[in-house]
Amino acid sequence: MTIGSMLYEGKAKKVFATDKPDQVVQYFKDDATAFNAQKRGTIVEKGVVNNKISERLFLLLEQAGVPTHFIERLSDRELLTKKVTIVPVEVVVRNVVAGSLAKRLGLKEGDPIEPAIVEWYYKNDALGDPLIADEHIRLMKLATPEQMTEIKRLALKVNSLLQPFFRERQMILVDFKLEFGLHNGQLILADEISPDTCRFWDQTTKESMDKDRFRKDLGKIEEAYQEVLKRVCGEGL
Ligand code: TMP
Ligand code: ASP
Repeated sequence: MTIGSMLYEGKAKKVFATDKPDQVVQYFKDDATAFNAQKRGTIVEKGVVNNKISERLFLLLEQAGVPTHFIERLSDRELLTKKVTIVPVEVVVRNVVAGSLAKRLGLKEGDPIEPAIVEWYYKNDALGDPLIADEHIRLMKLATPEQMTEIKRLALKVNSLLQPFFRERQMILVDFKLEFGLHNGQLILADEISPDTCRFWDQTTKESMDKDRFRKDLGKIEEAYQEVLKRVCGEGL
């Protein structure tokens, strides 16, 4: 595998071309941002943790029949993936009230949401990734109605697979964000699944074990990421 030029640099990852036109390498950085990059920092070894956790979760989902962009983890920070055209919609699944849902609607943080809900956000940094409705997706032609139906089905399937996985590890999967992409016309799960893109609460203490520790300055950020790695992959660094 030869790694070529950088195609794109995002807030937490870089994407590189490879010698195969339909494969790319995601390189996971330690850079952390919050509130549309108004807050910036570094979470030491975050890239390694997020890469390994993503590998474990993509493998689990693939084995259960969810198509993903995952091919193989190449190194501590590099993930080989299928090249996709990202659908510019961030898909959030919620099992427990937290974050922007609590704030926007004045709901009580920690209240269960049953059945889980799925929300759409327009992936657009200039606009601050606003919450949008199905009609806006149709209006802006971000995806077809058939693709949105499939995305919702897959997002709920991911939830039904990840919830018990984390429960067995004494963690509550509060909510998470997914991104989908098109690869040769097929809709597949892309990006990453990690403590940057999920909320995990310890089942006993209800303490945050994710990027909320950075967003809210709760301290012990690196420790939390390492603990998630240990519970998910059974290893420390
Ligand atoms: P929210 O409550 O702030 O809308 O976040 C919902 C979920 O989405 C949470 O698990 C964190 C994740 N998320 C991202 O992955 N990227 C983002 O830019 C934001 C705002 C949230
Ligand atoms: N990805 C977001 C940003 O910096 C932050 C977040 O996850 O809250 O724009």
